[in-house]
Amino acid sequence: MNNILHFPDGFRWGAATAAHQNEGGNHANNWSLWEQQPGRIAGGQVCGPATNWWDLEVAADDFDRAAGLGLNSLRISVEWSRIEPNPGEFDARALAKYGEMVGLLRERGLEPMVTLHHFTDPVWLGELGGWENPLASDYFSRFTTKVVDALGDQVNLWCTINEPTVYAFIGFHEGLFPPGGRSWRRAAAVLRSMLLAHARAYRVIHRLQGDAKVGLAHHLRYFLPADPANPFDRRVADLYDQIANRSVLDAVTTGRWGPVLGAGQVVTQLIDTSDYIGLNYYSTTHMRFDRTQPGMFFTRQAFLPELASCECTSDGQPFCEINPEGMYLALKKLQAYGKPIYITENGVPDREDVQRPYVLATYLSEVWRAIRDGVDVRGYYHWTLVDNFEWAEGWNLRFGLIGLDPQTGERTPRTSAAVYSRIVQSNGVPRKVLDQFAPGEAEKYFAA
Ligand code: FCB
Repeated sequence: MNNILHFPDGFRWGAATAAHQNEGGNHANNWSLWEQQPGRIAGGQVCGPATNWWDLEVAADDFDRAAGLGLNSLRISVEWSRIEPNPGEFDARALAKYGEMVGLLRERGLEPMVTLHHFTDPVWLGELGGWENPLASDYFSRFTTKVVDALGDQVNLWCTINEPTVYAFIGFHEGLFPPGGRSWRRAAAVLRSMLLAHARAYRVIHRLQGDAKVGLAHHLRYFLPADPANPFDRRVADLYDQIANRSVLDAVTTGRWGPVLGAGQVVTQLIDTSDYIGLNYYSTTHMRFDRTQPGMFFTRQAFLPELASCECTSDGQPFCEINPEGMYLALKKLQAYGKPIYITENGVPDREDVQRPYVLATYLSEVWRAIRDGVDVRGYYHWTLVDNFEWAEGWNLRFGLIGLDPQTGERTPRTSAAVYSRIVQSNGVPRKVLDQFAPGEAEKYFAA
């Protein structure tokens, strides 16, 4: 009898990380300045040494841990401000060190997926106007060229930019990330600029490395109407999908700017600039029409209390809804774009590891269901390997399969590390894992 929901051969099982959240000791980027401003990070916390990965011995120990779990890939990012500390001035030692880092991954059978921009900008870029400077994509291509020249012989899977919508809207509209802007117009301009830079970088990478696989990581919230029978709720859920999801996905496939970005015109240089789509998936979000919220397109986001994650952000909202079917729905939405998909991030903050084993068992069962139904999913990267610095939430939210004491650097694997390892080593979800961590849910998948 088949007791495993089997994944395709060659599936990439990984964990996702990011330079600033892990390396520690970054001093020349916008986040290191932001952290020094009072009130920016929950409880005034700072990144500090983070997981200390700029010390390659420490990083290698964590890579051993990842390999020990059975993973065959790891997503890392490179820190622009280390590689190009001043405009046009590249630090050969930093590039060599990243070369060593990806070498350490390869030696352990962990295929590197390398992200070029994961939220942080060199301070000099900000001084030149950041992504609002029309030359931003020139700067980004120059940087991309150097990185691909240095690492291309060891890296084949590239992610240009992580979550451009989050960078643009949280930083320039909600004001919670640097530079703390509060303008829709600026956010939209930054998003446009990042997508154009992505397209340039896509071409740069392919020019240097014909067989590379290049995409970006899109943060996809799956918007649902709070009341499916209410046409206004349905309308606002669709509107948010248009703004937050389709605007990016359409741009980097068909080249079409959505309404927020440019009223439907097609931009030739954007067409077909994704060899794959990177899906960062965390949550469904229920949307309610609310005429008192004109600034939010007459919408209020309503987390359903029965789906709430146990950990909340500092504004008291649950971080996400725990809703396995949302993963399936997100993958089905992406299927329409006809590209292979990597789940470049998925996880839940859960210091006590109460919900994470359930999330791993059920979300991965939903990934299996999507693959069974024809979606071309090539890999899954859990966010994250070891607890790391969670941006404006500091150390409050703990996403690691492995816990970290940031004071001492001590690592303690959570139950979830063993759960994920069982799945990875089976190349699929064993029925026993579902029975143990999501009692009663196995029937849904095994009866089919
Ligand atoms: C994503 C980010 C990642 C991490 C997770 C929890 O939006 O890409 O760096 O913070 O959320």
